[in-house]
Amino acid sequence: MIKNLQQVFRDRFQKEPLVIGAPGRVNLIGEHTDYNNGFVLPGAVDKRIYVAIAPNNTDTVNVYANQFGESFSFSVNGIEPRTGWMNYLLGVSYHIQQKGKQIGGLDVLIDGDIPVGAGMSSSAALCSGYGFGLNEVFKLGLSRMDLAFIGQKTEHTFVGVKCGIMDQFASLHGREGHVMKLDCRSLEYEYIPFEFPDYKVVLVNSMVSHSLAGSEYNIRRQQCEEGVAILKKHYPDIATLRDVTPEQLLKHQEEMSPVVFDRCSYVVYEKERLLAGCEALKNNDLAKFGQLMYATHEGLSKKYAVSCTELDFLAERAQTIPGVVGARMMGGGFGGCTINIVNTDAVDNFKQTIQEAFNGLFKKIPDVYVTAIQDGTRVMA
Ligand code: GLA
Repeated sequence: MIKNLQQVFRDRFQKEPLVIGAPGRVNLIGEHTDYNNGFVLPGAVDKRIYVAIAPNNTDTVNVYANQFGESFSFSVNGIEPRTGWMNYLLGVSYHIQQKGKQIGGLDVLIDGDIPVGAGMSSSAALCSGYGFGLNEVFKLGLSRMDLAFIGQKTEHTFVGVKCGIMDQFASLHGREGHVMKLDCRSLEYEYIPFEFPDYKVVLVNSMVSHSLAGSEYNIRRQQCEEGVAILKKHYPDIATLRDVTPEQLLKHQEEMSPVVFDRCSYVVYEKERLLAGCEALKNNDLAKFGQLMYATHEGLSKKYAVSCTELDFLAERAQTIPGVVGARMMGGGFGGCTINIVNTDAVDNFKQTIQEAFNGLFKKIPDVYVTAIQDGTRVMA
């Protein structure tokens, strides 16, 4: 892919680019916890967005998306939101400028192998890759964490999804063979080895694109805030659901609508599950970890209501296949992938069984990705 990208870039722009690779992510456990200031446990994967980039000594950024055969241009002066995927690049350029950094015109070529809409954060990878490229080319001196926040702000202001920091963080900070326990309140993080030679992290695509899920996502966020506002009256120190104990929540259940209670209850217990999950990983106890994944799925489906029929089917069916230690829906929800931990020897059978079962019901063969945990965004050539 990189060699081809360089060639297409040369043919199109008659110069040599810098090539950045920005990975998608998996999240082992800790879903919908990032914007509640809790913990997450993501890792970067071996699927990437590639951004080939070179300055062009003008004020214009010319972009070509190789995968879609689409191009567009914009001036770096007076950037405003438009519609479509170009907002990711517009937003990153804009928010870099808002940090007082100067950027000039560029030629940019984008390609990648992260399936779009499959919940592996192709959009966060695009922001990370492009931001990283700008930082390199114009020597802006931004840190990886700065770039993660620039990507997140882009989602908030140019795209309209009030996402947390997990996806951008993971794409930029990934480390081969490790997941990252990120505390989304303090932003401290710890690399935890995820090296189980006998197991693979396997994603199964529900083939339901989650691209329309933005408004539901924002509603979940509001519901969490509603719960916090009620609890804050009793416990002024509570800033987010991160600070809430199960006891506090149960004590004030009657003051909340059943929906708000369910949303808050999922998040409060998910925080506990993540902490237990990290302990299990440190003790090499994948069986325990897998049980926690099943419980997370149950919570996301029944209490947080971000699953769908296809995801529920995949997560439940996976439990019955030999060699599977854990399975759940992954990411924001309403489509995208399930994440499964599967014994290496059982992967072929798992793939065949789940594809046949899904096809039998939904008349579609779901894509299956056997992933490897890799380094974060970096210069590839
Ligand atoms: C999406 C968001 C993340 C996170 C997950 C759910 O991927 O971009 O910030 O909230 O959903 O865990």
